Amino acid sequence: YEGQTPYEAIGGAETIGKLVDAFYKRVIEHPDLKPIFPEDIMPVRDKQYLFLTQFFGGPHLYSDKYGNPMMRARHLPFPITPKRAEAWLSCMTKALDEAGIEGSMKEFMFARLKQTAYHMVNTPDE
Ligand code: HEM
Repeated sequence: YEGQTPYEAIGGAETIGKLVDAFYKRVIEHPDLKPIFPEDIMPVRDKQYLFLTQFFGGPHLYSDKYGNPMMRARHLPFPITPKRAEAWLSCMTKALDEAGIEGSMKEFMFARLKQTAYHMVNTPDE
């Protein structure tokens, strides 16, 4: 992927769009995640689209609209347990597959998401 960002390598905006659709479809059905997300998932889906675009090297869409990401701080109002981090990642690994992101690119992206997911944990498991 010499000279290309992960964002470019996976197919840019279209692929990020597929990824967030595939992801939130699972989040809203997951018993551990459903209770902490709003019923109308579209605003969250749209913010995640902006965030993942910049997280993987695309245009800084999230920061342009919402300022400094400060993702851990933005998650503090929600009880993010280790169990919920695992649930989030299980939805994400399937979503990466559904978006057609494979091989070493999937591994690279998943590793970065995993690191970020554990950083978000702010509450112990029950
Ligand atoms: C927002 C849950 C990890 C990116 C949210 C919201 C919840 C949530 C409940 C707020 C929804 C609302 O607005 O009502 C979780 C859980 C995680 C997790 C359970 C498990 C570890 C992550 C990770 C990322 C991320 C790893 C980024 C790679 C975002 C973004 C928003 C968001 C961009 C929107 C922030 C905003 O309001 O501007 N998340 N999240 N989340 N999450 Fe997560």
